[in-house]
Amino acid sequence: MMQPALDLVIAALETIREEGDRTPRASRTALARLQTDPFFALRTARTTQEAIESAVATGDPGARNNKADLLSAVRERVGVCTRCAHLACSRTQTVFGVGNPDADLMFIGEAPGADEDRQGEPFVGRAGQLLTRILKAMNFAREDVYIANILKCRPDMPAGSFGNRPPTPTEMQTCRPYLIEQIDIIQPSVLVALGAVAVEGLLGTRATMRELRGRWHTYNSIPLMITYHPAYLLRNQASSEKRKVWEDMLQVMERLERPISERQRNYFL
Ligand code: URA
Repeated sequence: MMQPALDLVIAALETIREEGDRTPRASRTALARLQTDPFFALRTARTTQEAIESAVATGDPGARNNKADLLSAVRERVGVCTRCAHLACSRTQTVFGVGNPDADLMFIGEAPGADEDRQGEPFVGRAGQLLTRILKAMNFAREDVYIANILKCRPDMPAGSFGNRPPTPTEMQTCRPYLIEQIDIIQPSVLVALGAVAVEGLLGTRATMRELRGRWHTYNSIPLMITYHPAYLLRNQASSEKRKVWEDMLQVMERLERPISERQRNYFL
């Protein structure tokens, strides 16, 4: 079997094992339909695994490699999601993710804020602008990387109140499968989790940032760097904190084998 197809099968099996709630199945009708219309299952797949399995089964190299199409299918499901009824009522729109479906580097935040809810794109408010600056300092454009959140809806706030609230553990558990599908499709070489809430949503680990940041962890065999959320840097302007985030990003650049100039090494955000 071709290596890319094998990789997809392994990724699909890992997802199935991780979710652990179903075994792969194909009905006789589905198999018969596949014989006559090889792209049927790809179009109608309900989950990423199904889409990946179908892409492999059809032997269609375009479909196999088309991460953008796979992401679009997930985006469509997210767009009409009502798993958290209260958030489905309060949101302006869902905020799926943005960037390069083939990205080597993927950032994971917490949840959309008011700006993101309005614009439908993650990290476009003040914290997002700082993230964009950090990326620029790393010689990345937003379009080079992929950016997503644990939650695809803005956590609702009492009427008339300002600011954001953190997602609840239940909201994170409910939304997490969408993020897992995004990671499975993109298969980045490196993940960066921004802040302790993102870590809790992704790994289920509750710990302080002091314990977590600045060293390598893994999610599903993908190297994971944990660093402070840009919103933390906006609240705490101490250059020591900015430097910590930058040192974490230098580790990411090294891991990705990106060239690092002397200027970048000495840079303070
Ligand atoms: N903070 C996040 O964690 N995500 C966003 O999209 C914006 C702010």
